[in-house]
Amino acid sequence: MKFFIDTANLDQIKEAQDLGILDGVTTNPSLMAKEGISGEDKVIAHYKAICDIVDDNVSAEVIAVTYDEIIKEGEALAALDAKIVVKVPMIKDGIKAIKYFSSKGIKTNCTLIFSAGQALLAAKAGATYVSPFLGRLDDIGSEGLTLVEDIRTIFDNYGYPTQILAASIRGPLHIIACAKLGADVMTGPLTAILGLLKHPLTDSGLATFLADHKKAAASITQQ
Ligand code: E4P
Repeated sequence: MKFFIDTANLDQIKEAQDLGILDGVTTNPSLMAKEGISGEDKVIAHYKAICDIVDDNVSAEVIAVTYDEIIKEGEALAALDAKIVVKVPMIKDGIKAIKYFSSKGIKTNCTLIFSAGQALLAAKAGATYVSPFLGRLDDIGSEGLTLVEDIRTIFDNYGYPTQILAASIRGPLHIIACAKLGADVMTGPLTAILGLLKHPLTDSGLATFLADHKKAAASITQQ
């Protein structure tokens, strides 16, 4: 399972990269705005800075919503760095644009997926990734994980190479559930990734090991 971090914060991206387990980054206009990044030059510089930190897979989202504009913006983003994945919204012009990008060998991430039918259309258009938003479905009382399960079944039935990128992950339990369901990738905040590290028995077990080691060392010194 690939691990992407869902942020535009450079310090958090560096921290995850330093852990040695990071496979990519997803951003969106809200995450860029949260870091105070606006204006074409700043946005481009920020994507370049992210690409300098990670090895691959940097999702950069288009703002455009019409076919011609999506193509123009997406091609400009893709030209920034070979690591860029053009993130395109699940709309009619977005599907057409994904088909075009796919024919040009430009990687795409179809975002804002909330149904299996949307994922199927994106896969048929040749999307590299589809991003079902689990947390936002859970927020409205719908089962986000069921969507991942349905998409996995459909993609496996027909051998679609499109990868399921489980997005809108809220915590470590979401990550584990997605891994069990066979999601190809998860993108989540640093807190969700670091949450996987934690278990109280690990902490108490380590404290005991260290205390026992200290006692044994002290008794050898006294002999
Ligand atoms: C990722 O590509 C999405 O933009 C992101 O996971 C959305 O997450 P949120 O629902 O926490 O905003």
